[in-house]
Amino acid sequence: KHIVILISGEGSNMAAIVRAAEQQRWAERFGASVAAVIANKPEAGGLRFARDRGIAAEAVSHKAFATREAFDAALAAAVDAHSPALVVLAGFMRILTPVFVRRYAGRLLNIHPSLLPAFPGLDTHRRAIEAGCRVAGATVHQVTVELDHGPILDQAIVPVLPGDTAEGLAARVLTQEHLLYSRAIERWLHEGAGDTDSS
Ligand code: GRF
Repeated sequence: KHIVILISGEGSNMAAIVRAAEQQRWAERFGASVAAVIANKPEAGGLRFARDRGIAAEAVSHKAFATREAFDAALAAAVDAHSPALVVLAGFMRILTPVFVRRYAGRLLNIHPSLLPAFPGLDTHRRAIEAGCRVAGATVHQVTVELDHGPILDQAIVPVLPGDTAEGLAARVLTQEHLLYSRAIERWLHEGAGDTDSS
């Protein structure tokens, strides 16, 4: 089973998943491996990490396309070249069209840095602090056509501490994201959700 990971920047979540796949022996246990990392920005730092690990690392620049639909079609073509059982959005900062989302329905995951359904969208840590939240965290969910609203696979929580800045909270949440995403994907693989021949 091939996993394709989409990134936009540093790809720390992608890196954590690649490391988990090795350390938790996903290949032997689930026949699963990270087949490719694809970024919508050629300068994404995560591409080098993938390349250095011998993982296909490609860029499909959204700037090269006149419409969102054209970009998504090119992205889907790049993704499909790796015959993915699972497509993982990891710090992927693009809103995908319904055509793209429907193409991968049921095998398209995202991680969002808030406890959904609270704080969909951007700037989640500042909003949680301003709302006076005592806890914050991250959510792994199925991607659906409604942004940040798909079925939840798992969540991780962290405390919001007095005097927390958005940056400090973001760092605390990001550490948990790295553990949460790998655990959620491993459970997805274990449940055989990626098996086309599951009876
Ligand atoms: C971070 O803000 C993280 O909370 C969110 O995507 C951003 C970049 O993550 N999921 P990454 O380091 O590129 O994985």
